[in-house]
Amino acid sequence: MTVIENSKVTVVGAGSVGSSTAYAALIRGSARHVALYDIATEKVEAEVLDLAHGTQFTGTSDITGGSDISVVEGSHVVVITAGAKQHPGQTRIELAGTNAGILGSMMPQLLEVAPNAIYVIVTNPCDVLTVLAQESTGLPTERIFASGTVLDTSRLRWKLAQRAGVSTSSVHAYIVGEHGDTEFPLWSKATIGTVPILDWVTPRGDRMTVEELDSIAVDVRDAAYKVIQGKGATNYAIGLSSARIIEAILKDEHAVMPVSPVLQGFHGIDGVALSVPSVVSAAGARPVIETAFAPNELELLHRSAEALKGVADSLR
Ligand code: 2OP
Repeated sequence: MTVIENSKVTVVGAGSVGSSTAYAALIRGSARHVALYDIATEKVEAEVLDLAHGTQFTGTSDITGGSDISVVEGSHVVVITAGAKQHPGQTRIELAGTNAGILGSMMPQLLEVAPNAIYVIVTNPCDVLTVLAQESTGLPTERIFASGTVLDTSRLRWKLAQRAGVSTSSVHAYIVGEHGDTEFPLWSKATIGTVPILDWVTPRGDRMTVEELDSIAVDVRDAAYKVIQGKGATNYAIGLSSARIIEAILKDEHAVMPVSPVLQGFHGIDGVALSVPSVVSAAGARPVIETAFAPNELELLHRSAEALKGVADSLR
């Protein structure tokens, strides 16, 4: 396995998601150098200082940043978190117009200083923004993708792990589709260890039912609304998810993760960014074309694609 030497990630946007991503990347040692870039000078400089002050205790101790675009130079990975955030009750899709404008003006500047980086879009609606940014930049679809349902998958695995009485890492299940209201779990492939999810006997001595799984899927889909209602934003879990994606790229892991690249002929879907199990490596993200879907799951995937296509079309 080749690991990128002297690896550098720049997180764009010093809001709660961007700062938490930088924090998680430092703690996990996801990159050799972590940088934070934002146009708000005072804010970004304060966040960088606060992060730097803790580096005696982190895996990586190199954190820099500021409001000059040169901060981004030399990045192997650029993670974009800048943009308007969801307010309580607001959907991710409702941010599309505003954030498409922000990303559209930022991408050319970023590409000028980091022309060879892998771009990970976290700003919402991340799938829609990815397809628009891929089209406008002409970047290969491998090199620009959204964090997608990596976070939702973690939410799902946590809930299933609690119920099944196993560690989260022993739950093999994926949320796919839109990072948003049309997402869904690939139940047909979900296992605890090697045991199909419906066969697993829980610590209570019962098995999970289809109705219970449906209700877990709804909880996962609506999880961000609940957190935003209570604290105004989600930041820790998305920060950790983003750090995990960063290290899969920089350590050339070839890890299978549900990130969201623009699909090209994936089960008949073209020109839409959607989360599907993808191999994440130093080259970026490549959808696993062999992923099998049950007929109802394929229908849901196409429904997710149609919904996102409509939003992207309205912004072109
Ligand atoms: C999340 O799912 C809001 O997209 C963000 O936490």
